[in-house]
Amino acid sequence: MNMNIMNVDYSTKIPNNVNLSEDRQVLKALEGWHPGYIDWWNDMGPDGFQQSLVYLRTAYSVDPRGWAKFDYVKMPDYRWGILLAPQEENRKIPFGEHFGEPAWQEVPGEYRAMLRRLIVIQGDTEPASVEQQRHLGKTAPSLYDLRNLFQVNVEEGRHLWAMVYLLQKYFGRDGREEADELLRRRSGDADSPRMLGAFNEATPDWLSFFMFTYFTDRDGKMQLHSLAQSGFDPLSRTCRFMLTEEAHHMFVGETGITRVVQRTCEAMKDAGITNPNDTAKVRALGVIDLPTIQKKLNLHYSLSLDLFGSEVSTNAANAFNSGIKGRYHETQIQDDHRLSSDTYPVLKFIDGEIKRVDEPALTALNMRLRDDYTQDCVKGLLRWNKVISTAGYDFKLTLPNVAFHRAIGEFKDVHATPDGILIDDATWAKRKGEWVPSTADGDFIASLMTPITEPGQFAPWISAPKVGIDNKPGDFEYVKIET
Ligand SMILES: [Fe+2]
Ligand SMILES: [Fe+2]
Repeated sequence: MNMNIMNVDYSTKIPNNVNLSEDRQVLKALEGWHPGYIDWWNDMGPDGFQQSLVYLRTAYSVDPRGWAKFDYVKMPDYRWGILLAPQEENRKIPFGEHFGEPAWQEVPGEYRAMLRRLIVIQGDTEPASVEQQRHLGKTAPSLYDLRNLFQVNVEEGRHLWAMVYLLQKYFGRDGREEADELLRRRSGDADSPRMLGAFNEATPDWLSFFMFTYFTDRDGKMQLHSLAQSGFDPLSRTCRFMLTEEAHHMFVGETGITRVVQRTCEAMKDAGITNPNDTAKVRALGVIDLPTIQKKLNLHYSLSLDLFGSEVSTNAANAFNSGIKGRYHETQIQDDHRLSSDTYPVLKFIDGEIKRVDEPALTALNMRLRDDYTQDCVKGLLRWNKVISTAGYDFKLTLPNVAFHRAIGEFKDVHATPDGILIDDATWAKRKGEWVPSTADGDFIASLMTPITEPGQFAPWISAPKVGIDNKPGDFEYVKIET
């Protein structure tokens, strides 16, 4: 094979850098899956705008120095491709029982079921988020934001392709069945929901969208990093390239929230409001008050923590031992990469208190990844708080305690305040609205969500971005709306 792995073959129906044209069987399977995917996109992808020209990036290479090309595309014509990062020569399995052995190019039989399950779970989140966001186009605060939403959506679609390729190529008949199931489940559906909780929640407004891309896509980043370490090389290479795209999704979240906070602070200053907790006064200005932003943050962060699973988990230990799923930045960690006798501190609920106890590091891998995630989340909070303090306001956005609003793991059966104080059911029921968005909060935010479709214009509750996408000027027409 002398095809340049960096460049993508666009001559086939399914763009790829895996030499699909010589892999007839897989090509056939994928071409068979393609119409169902397009049906899914038409039914469950962005509501409206399918005939609009959207200024989107498409990957044409997997070279990190320059991999994307921007152009106007109608979303159904987007070239969803299969792109794997280049194969590393002589790559070794970087952790677990098989540490140091050559990475697998085929599925190791004994780990087949585990591997398939992990790929399916990852794959399920990708279309789920598109489904959750499908109504947002109608209320976009600008063409710039509308374009960013659609970029995220088409790339999540491509991530589904990425997982489906692995299923079709490496798992035969049951891989094909799983690939079909991925198109059948629906976010929030009572009978056939998506596999993970946060992916069945609604994304009712644009603040939710920004919180989702900041907090929930970041869970995806952590999972992809762990899978990028996998001893199963095709999975590792697939995830490594997905991470390149994923970075933009989190950029959309982080800058989106920054712009909302920025606008709120400006409006408060202009109106001479000194107390950011005076929500009635702030809302009267047509911007989202900081306490409500905090509530949204509480909700999305706690839902995202649930995605890491139970703090102590033998599944996680097995996936690590077998060389299937590693740790965040595994190869940069200085230890034996086997964890046979190490411990890791885990937060647990013991005798009515939140306590830190040492657990075997192997079973505590979910907790460790969640801690890495929390550290990664903090960066955004520092930026947002800087905007607030620079504007002269004494208000800090914070991450709620791990025991707050949890449905999975150690704290699922208790209630706690965002500060981590345990409270009884009655207190929770009475005070919940102070900590997560109430119906009234949702209604208020919804009332602000009027679409802005004039190039260079922004809804009054959000600031303009500092720079355009692909360095375009402020009044660039990112979406040529055609209905
Ligand atoms: Fe994704
Ligand atoms: Fe994403």
